[in-house]
Amino acid sequence: MKAILCYFSATGNTKKCVEEYKKNLESLNVEVSIHNIDDGFISDTSNYDLVFFAYPIHGFNAPENVLKFAKHLKKEEKKKRLIILKTSGEHLRINNISSYSLLRILKRRNYYLTNEYHYLMPYDIIFRHTDLMAYNMYETMKGLIPLDIKDILDNKQVKLKYMPFGHIIQLIMLIEHPGAKINGWFMHTNKNCVSCGMCEKICPVKNITIDDKGKVHFKNHCLMCTRCAFLCPKNAIVFGLFNSWKVNGKYSFIKPDYEEINKHKRYCKGSYERYFNEASKRIEESIK
Ligand SMILES: Cc1cc2nc3c(=O)[nH]c(=O)nc-3n(C[C@H](O)[C@H](O)[C@H](O)COP(=O)(O)O)c2cc1C
Ligand code: SF4
Ligand code: SF4
Repeated sequence: MKAILCYFSATGNTKKCVEEYKKNLESLNVEVSIHNIDDGFISDTSNYDLVFFAYPIHGFNAPENVLKFAKHLKKEEKKKRLIILKTSGEHLRINNISSYSLLRILKRRNYYLTNEYHYLMPYDIIFRHTDLMAYNMYETMKGLIPLDIKDILDNKQVKLKYMPFGHIIQLIMLIEHPGAKINGWFMHTNKNCVSCGMCEKICPVKNITIDDKGKVHFKNHCLMCTRCAFLCPKNAIVFGLFNSWKVNGKYSFIKPDYEEINKHKRYCKGSYERYFNEASKRIEESIK
């Protein structure tokens, strides 16, 4: 069996998910190819039995570059099995609607969804999750993936519950895509910038240039993916109108051996508890 995993990951969380899928699928003798959407379009997946799409949820939607990538796929002659993986920072049910646009595009190209999974991973915008929370999210995802792969390979369909009027809400939320460009007009760097060039290199849509004097310029097609602001080694990027939501610096995903102050203890508390409880129940039952 052959599988291709097409993914976008702005700040590394979805990439971790994809790597975990690759490792687990290969241990079950599935031949796995990975395609990073940053590397460009592909048109044909006819050589594969399973096509995975993996993306971070952005404003209750798939990011714009993921939709563009899907539009470049040609129509498959035979129906193609599709599996969607998504990561996001909270597990509210409204996030389930994020695949509507992607599904509309892929359905027209003869792909049919059989399985969809949503894994919690730490925020790269809004606020920084604690190191303990990030560690728990990652470990939980690693525990769930082998179980989800078992369902996929056993042909057990698993779909997320979409809320009533979800398709309408999702269409309204597509406003995030032009909104990202508007936010991009207000992005700039502060005096901490050392013109290292990293942001120019890593922007997935080549929205950043650095001139001969080392000044960083932002063009007008930002995706608001946060990669530049998240990874800037000097925390020098002012993230436009959303600067107060900026998160800077990679998560370690290592269990901290120090006390942390969690300023966001109450935030989406119920949905986090539900996610972790349901996940640990599934993982424990699978061990019995
Ligand atoms: C512009 C933007 C919008 C986001 N919107 C949501 C959202 O609607 N719901 C959510 O739970 N997380 C949201 N997030 C958080 C990311 O989905 C989450 O951190 C994800 O795991 C990042 O994955 P990546 O590192 O692969 O890019 C958003 C992040 C960004 C940058
Ligand atoms: S990554 Fe940061 S320090 Fe480096 S050029 Fe960009 S803004 Fe400046
Ligand atoms: S400018 Fe920054 S936030 Fe905008 S698309 Fe490029 S890396 Fe992402």
